[in-house]
Amino acid sequence: MTNSGEARVFCAIDLPRSTKKRVLDHIARLRGLVPEARASWTREQNLHLTLKFLGEIPTERVHNFQLAISRAVGGFSHFPVAISKTGVFPRPRDPRVLWIGIMDLTGALARLHLRLETESEKEGFPKEKRRFHPHLTLARLRHHEGARELAQAHEALTFPAEEIVVNDLVLIRSELSSSGSTYTTISRHALKP
Ligand code: 2AM
Repeated sequence: MTNSGEARVFCAIDLPRSTKKRVLDHIARLRGLVPEARASWTREQNLHLTLKFLGEIPTERVHNFQLAISRAVGGFSHFPVAISKTGVFPRPRDPRVLWIGIMDLTGALARLHLRLETESEKEGFPKEKRRFHPHLTLARLRHHEGARELAQAHEALTFPAEEIVVNDLVLIRSELSSSGSTYTTISRHALKP
């Protein structure tokens, strides 16, 4: 443990390897189209859909988050979502994050997210105030140079929709360093088949 007594944790949905590859292909195309842009690109092992980010919590409280996740998935069946649509936060003229959106095909993703919020709150973790906007972060842009061009290219490329089945949630620990963040899976919480 690098940071004694504290862990930076979040709960996420992992992606199939083939989906990650398609996202990486999209990234490679973008980098080729706007080579002058400086962005920090998400690495393959860091691609996921975040459901709830807690930030730093005392290490002994990680167990409480695990309890909340386990209760949230309890009796909840596998469900499909579609990965599609390219977008930019906060807006295309001032792009800071490039993302690929997740379509909640059945409403199950919103229900599971709500259950996780409710169960986390019971364990003493505050509810997220911001609206849930499910997405995969592809890049963070910290420099103006090429940023708008990159955002335009990203939106113009689009991302042909792909359906995936969500069958578990993962609890991930994030360790920050000068070379980026390293994510470690602490536990997996299976949905009902
Ligand atoms: P993002 O992809 O939109 O940046 C780990 O940092 C994960 O938690 C990321 O997927 C990140 O979402 C998400 N997250 C949500 N809120 C965050 C916050 N306040 N700080 C850092 N990451 C956050």
